Amino acid sequence: MNTPVLIMDRSKIISNYREMKSAFTDFHIAYAMKSNSHNDILNLLLREDSDIETASISEIQLLIERGVSPEKIIFSNPVKPESAIRSAVESGVFTMTFDSLSELKKFIPYKEFIKPILRIDVANEGSLWVLSGKFGCPKRVWPQIFQYMKDNEITLSGITFHVGSQCEMASTWGKAIAEVGEAALMAETYNLKPEILNIGGGFPINLGRDVPTVKDIANVVYKAINDLEKKGIVFEKFYAEPGRFISGSAGTLCTRVIGVGDRDIKGQSEKWVFLDTGVFSGLMETIDGITYPLYSNGSGEIERVMLCGPSCDGADKMFKAFLPSPKVGDIIYMYGTGAYTMSYSSNFNGIEPPSVSFVDKIENKVENFKLN
Ligand SMILES: Cc1ncc(COP(=O)(O)O)c(C=O)c1O
Repeated sequence: MNTPVLIMDRSKIISNYREMKSAFTDFHIAYAMKSNSHNDILNLLLREDSDIETASISEIQLLIERGVSPEKIIFSNPVKPESAIRSAVESGVFTMTFDSLSELKKFIPYKEFIKPILRIDVANEGSLWVLSGKFGCPKRVWPQIFQYMKDNEITLSGITFHVGSQCEMASTWGKAIAEVGEAALMAETYNLKPEILNIGGGFPINLGRDVPTVKDIANVVYKAINDLEKKGIVFEKFYAEPGRFISGSAGTLCTRVIGVGDRDIKGQSEKWVFLDTGVFSGLMETIDGITYPLYSNGSGEIERVMLCGPSCDGADKMFKAFLPSPKVGDIIYMYGTGAYTMSYSSNFNGIEPPSVSFVDKIENKVENFKLN
């Protein structure tokens, strides 16, 4: 087998999308293409009638060029270059997010067209890849935003949030929707009536621990929406923007051990295992807490080792894992790697990213998972 290679399972992309759609029946499911924008994934999802969440004008143009209707595209990056906003509007993509007054001011020339969605700051409790802090309008700024919208006759089309990626706590969505309720109530006092509720992404996959299913999360979400309705806060249109949930579990990265070394770290001896894929060639998320379940074709006594990548950079180290006595040439399968691997990969040090291969179905090796 030539490594590294990311094997993507078409049937899993489709079943993930359908699982999401059946849990969130009256939601538009807008696939976050930043997680993996491979043509085959887009083809499969567009055939399923998925909407698409985009982060840049080039993602939008790619979709428009292939004939996707602009109404099916949302532009959810809360901070965009002015030129990207203009081009999006010219392409007919009007639903877009903002989370600051400075961004809202960029919408003014196109205010008859743009459907502005306010992204609020919410807790990212239970999430392995935190997005709060960098994104989300804090509560204390809402009055300025709403006053500006009222004074400049800009409609507030909707409210959104992101609980952080790989959020393993369903209750976090419930708390976020309660915050949305507060924002909507405040907006009403400025005669603004948001109609869209966008619950963002963050839906988790099996990375070796028990995680809530999308059905569990949907139960929390629908209850929270019901609670808002009891208070008279009624939304007309709903979006979810899953990325990892659709593409992540559909991917298995096959990587090879290219070196093994003994190291002394803070007085402790450790075995370091060098793989042909690392932080810079796709496994970027490992720098901040994401780990993947592994299966090795090697044999021998189980050892706890530090996994690192092939570049000459000290930051190219990933996570500790249990592997059967690693040797050069062993193949390591990393599950759940279909999202945010190809899209993050570079050819740093001249090392090529993994190739990608699509198959109709891959065998589920979940029973072989070793917990990291
Ligand atoms: C605005 C927005 N929506 C959706 C997503 C997808 O998140 P996830 O892959 O955790 O579902 C992201 C990821 O960063 C995002 O920034």
